[in-house]
Amino acid sequence: MPFCYIEEIGKYVSQKVTIKGWLYNKRSSGKIHFLLIRDGTGMIQSVMSKGEVPDAVFETYDKLTQESSLEVDGVVREDKRAPRGYELTLTDIRIIQIAQDYPITPKEHGTDFLMDNRHLWLRSSRQQAIMRVRNEIIYAMRTFFYEKRFILIDTPILTGSIGETATTLFETQYFDLGKAYLAQTGQLYNEAAAMAFGRMYCFGPTFRAEKSKTRRHLTEFWMVEAEMAFYDNEDNMKLQEEFIEYVVQRVLDKSKKELVSLERDLSKLEKIRRPFERMSYDEAINHLKKNGSKIEWGSDLGGEDETILANLYEKPLFVYNYPRQCKAFYMKPNPQRADVVLCSDLLAPEGYGEIVGGSQRDDDYDSLVQRIKEEKLPLDAYKWYLDLRKYGTVIHSGFGLGVERTVAWICGLPHIRETIPFPRMIYRLYP
Ligand code: 4AD
Ligand code: MG
Repeated sequence: MPFCYIEEIGKYVSQKVTIKGWLYNKRSSGKIHFLLIRDGTGMIQSVMSKGEVPDAVFETYDKLTQESSLEVDGVVREDKRAPRGYELTLTDIRIIQIAQDYPITPKEHGTDFLMDNRHLWLRSSRQQAIMRVRNEIIYAMRTFFYEKRFILIDTPILTGSIGETATTLFETQYFDLGKAYLAQTGQLYNEAAAMAFGRMYCFGPTFRAEKSKTRRHLTEFWMVEAEMAFYDNEDNMKLQEEFIEYVVQRVLDKSKKELVSLERDLSKLEKIRRPFERMSYDEAINHLKKNGSKIEWGSDLGGEDETILANLYEKPLFVYNYPRQCKAFYMKPNPQRADVVLCSDLLAPEGYGEIVGGSQRDDDYDSLVQRIKEEKLPLDAYKWYLDLRKYGTVIHSGFGLGVERTVAWICGLPHIRETIPFPRMIYRLYP
């Protein structure tokens, strides 16, 4: 008898198959038992009627509890009325283990309880849908770069030089060499790789000791970062538009079923087409002040400011030309205006806010040394990075996209905590 995964059950209509999985739910009319079985690839309603299976098989129904593991045999029936299009007429059930008091029942649970049980919560159909969309998003991102002939270069997680800012570092003692930091970004290494390979990207976990408890912050998140030699920030923004459009449209195509099950408004995603909107930081500040924000020129946008701006348009919005003082040391000063840098943040619509940060990098040795000193960063740790400005420096730019914020936006989730299998946040290290 063929063993089959539920997602492929359509290939086995009228045949007898074996399915291995877990009991999701059950109900009975007395004479007919219905078992909803999941196997990780999907769910199928399985039916048995008294008298049509041996009594011993029929009676296993009473023993089965939610999340008990089992193997079943049955005949696949196509049924247009069944929620998933197919049903299984059971012929045999073999119990692997009876689960005792599975804590997550079909009733409503609080978020804290569900987060404490994240290792089990992942079995729910909603979490299954989110993780499948995440999988498609990541695959789309990798495919985009692969097809454009960008090379994947893996950057280190244990690092000696601070990538973004000294304020959100996780530190650890590194043998006799002093402190090591968990990478906040792969960017500095990306710049070295761009000088070696031209166009490249890295994809990996990054770490920020963010004390903020918001719906947008994790302490460990995944970032895709591209870096391109001979790109100025205008080229950089164009690439970001193409990238985001590609990812959203492809995921819309591949994950429609999951997005519908998450009740995502697909028409909103269909509108994510180039060109995106643009607004200078100066204009953004004016708009925010008119709309009641307390923000002053010079500071980075707060979460609420981003929400206001991200609600203005249906497409993503680039905010560009931020003040030098609120951005990282490596950004190139705008040659027309020394108080701002050649950078942009991309805000996702529907209030989601920043999903990408990008900039043209300072390619001048002296000006970069000065910025490192201004930021009171240890010059020694950047000797290798400064070498890139000594040996064949060129204009170059890049960006970093936060995977979890992108998953939240595409899935339409209110909070980032459900976008990653095991979230790390200020008050959460387990499971
Ligand atoms: O804007 P950020 O800090 O940019 C960089 O790290 C650059 N070095 C990227 C580059 O140019 N190569 O972070 C980039 C993105 C943000 O736009 C956001 O989507 C995400 O990373 N991000 C976070 N996501 C979840 N939790 C956090 N604490 C995040 N911090 C940043
Ligand atoms: Mg940023």
